[in-house]
Amino acid sequence: MRIGILGSGLMGGKLGTLFARGGHEVVFSYARREQKLKKLARDAKGKARSGTPREAAQDAEAVLLAVHWSRVDDVLNQAGDLSGKVVVTCSLPMKDDDTALVVAHTSSGAEEFAKMIPKAGVVAAFNTVPSEVLFDVYEAKRKASRPSLVYCGDDPKAKKVAARLIRDLGFEPMDAGPLRIARYTEPFGLLIAQLAYEGKGGPELAYRFERFGK
Ligand SMILES: NC(=O)c1ccc[n+]([C@@H]2O[C@H](COP(=O)([O-])OP(=O)(O)OC[C@H]3O[C@@H](n4cnc5c(N)ncnc54)[C@H](OP(=O)(O)O)[C@@H]3O)[C@@H](O)[C@H]2O)c1
Repeated sequence: MRIGILGSGLMGGKLGTLFARGGHEVVFSYARREQKLKKLARDAKGKARSGTPREAAQDAEAVLLAVHWSRVDDVLNQAGDLSGKVVVTCSLPMKDDDTALVVAHTSSGAEEFAKMIPKAGVVAAFNTVPSEVLFDVYEAKRKASRPSLVYCGDDPKAKKVAARLIRDLGFEPMDAGPLRIARYTEPFGLLIAQLAYEGKGGPELAYRFERFGK
C-alpha cells in the first residue's frame, strides 16, 4: 500500500518506518528539517522516501496524520486535497503545552479533524499507545497473543484499511465503532500515557482486552 506520513516525529517516524519494513511504500513528510525526513527514509530501508506533504498525500492509498494538534491546519493546507483518501489520525487534541485535551465530552479531535476534510474517510487509531512500544510490538508480532489497539471511524472501507495497517504492525485491531467513540479513546490514550510515562515500568506499554464468560 502507498502510505503518506504527515508529521514524521515520534509517532509518524516510527509508524512510517514499520510500515516500510512491512513492505508498504512510504513517503515521510512534515518535519522542520528536510535532512531528518531523508534520514528516516534511508534508515527505514524498504520502499521509503521523503517528500512534501503534498507529495506524501498525492498518490497515497492511506495517509497518516501524526502532528501536534496546533499544526493540523498547517499540515492540511500543505497536503492539499484529501478527498476520497483514507486518513488515519493518531493526533490527540492537546493544548499547546500538552497538559489537557482541548476537545472532549461533546466532540473529539478525530471528529473535529473529520469536519476539516469531509470527503475523506477518517479513522482514529494508534492514539492509545506510546511511540516507545511500537518497535517492540512489531518485533513480537509472531507471538500467539497480541496487544489490542482500539480504532474507530464512520467509513467502513477506511476502517478496513486501518485494521490491516494495525494488524501489520503487530496489534490486534479492536473496532470500537463510529468516529464519535474517539470521545472515549482519546482520554483513554491519556490514561495509557500516564501509565507509560509516570508509571513504574517504563514507556514500553501496550494493552490487551480479554473477553470472559464464553
Ligand atoms: N508520542 C506519542 O507517544 C504519542 C502517542 C499517541 C498519540 N500521539 C499524538 O500523535 C501526534 C504526534 O505526536 P509525536 O509525539 O509524534 O509529535 P512530534 O514528535 O513532535 O512530531 C511532530 C512532527 O511534526 C513536525 N513539526 C512540528 N512543527 C512543525 C513545523 N512548524 N513545520 C514542519 N514540521 C513541524 C515535527 O518536526 P520535527 O521532527 O522537526 O520536530 C515532527 O516531525 C500528536 O498529536 C500526539 O498527541 C503521540
